[in-house]
Amino acid sequence: MLPEYFDFYCRTRIVAGPGLAAGFGNELGRLGGSRAFIVTDRVVRDLGLLDPVVRSLAVGGLDVVGTFDDIPPNSGFGVVMQGVEACRTAGGDILIAIGGGSVLDTAKGMNIVLCLGGDIADYQGFGLINEPLRPLVAVPTTAGTGSEVTAYAVIRDDATRSKQSLVSPYLAADLAVLDPELTLGLPPALTASTGMDALTHAVEAYLSTNSKPISDGLALHACRIIARWLPAAVSSGDDLEARYQMLTASCVAGMAFSAAMVGCVHALAHALGGLFHVPHGLANALLLAGGMEYNLPAVEERLADLAAAFGVGPTGERSRDAAAAIRFVRELVARVGLPSCLREAGVPEDGLEEAAETACIDAAIYTNPREATPEELLEVLRKAF
Ligand SMILES: [Fe+2]
Repeated sequence: MLPEYFDFYCRTRIVAGPGLAAGFGNELGRLGGSRAFIVTDRVVRDLGLLDPVVRSLAVGGLDVVGTFDDIPPNSGFGVVMQGVEACRTAGGDILIAIGGGSVLDTAKGMNIVLCLGGDIADYQGFGLINEPLRPLVAVPTTAGTGSEVTAYAVIRDDATRSKQSLVSPYLAADLAVLDPELTLGLPPALTASTGMDALTHAVEAYLSTNSKPISDGLALHACRIIARWLPAAVSSGDDLEARYQMLTASCVAGMAFSAAMVGCVHALAHALGGLFHVPHGLANALLLAGGMEYNLPAVEERLADLAAAFGVGPTGERSRDAAAAIRFVRELVARVGLPSCLREAGVPEDGLEEAAETACIDAAIYTNPREATPEELLEVLRKAF
């Protein structure tokens, strides 16, 4: 099929290497800003992961004027506004975000309000952030979100218990620092669930109605790396090569889905995160195979491509390959030791209907290869329950 048009854009400079958290000072001069405000969480702080970054900031000639570390998983609009207040009081003019997806997305939200004013709730959706924000450096400490390079911030609206997407190319960080040493201490369960988030980004980007040749290449490559390296990163947390491969794969998958967007698995994971605080990666892990199965009638050929990327195809028969790709994902979830169903993840059975309805109006559903009804999404949830 000859497409009429596609576009692809990524504004982030990406630097990667073991030990780089302590050695990226010379990258900072070109960004502008001299008063660094650090956005992180207490776990990252207690693990001592800020120390090498602070050394880089000093080499780059930046003063650290303050730190905001009060960020929970599934961060919300209220947290963003607290962070804005803390940064304004400290007088920060460049944001340094060090943490997982919740921290990175909170920093992006803060950056919007710091530059454009008002309340974070005013900026939900597309097309509302149309100018460069202040410089943002993202240092991921998990290998999953890819938020360092994406045009999205996904933040919980505490009033409606829903996860909202804020979208603009200006949300992607100016500089992403990928240092696998920062992820060495990540416990197996968190390594597994965040890694499955990255895999879900890659798979959904490849199946998306908004996929394009460049995101396809990125998505398939991320699938190859994750299939090959996630089990090792989970079982041997101190394997620096496995950590490096997963951190870069998560970034590559982030570039893919930032351009192509995602689908029903993310729509459902956002709903379960907003309503019941199910961790994002775990929700994706438990729903990915079911989401692929649901989309099978529309994307059999693409699923067959995924089998080759996972190393379980091609067999020469498309339907067999598509089934093998789905089976591979299901087995991977078990192999990395994650729970096997939503019930085990703490989702109440009487909440499934509300989750399906919420997912149906989530921004992620618009690029799903099948137009999903609440009833169909409820069926996906029931099968995963
Ligand atoms: Fe995700």
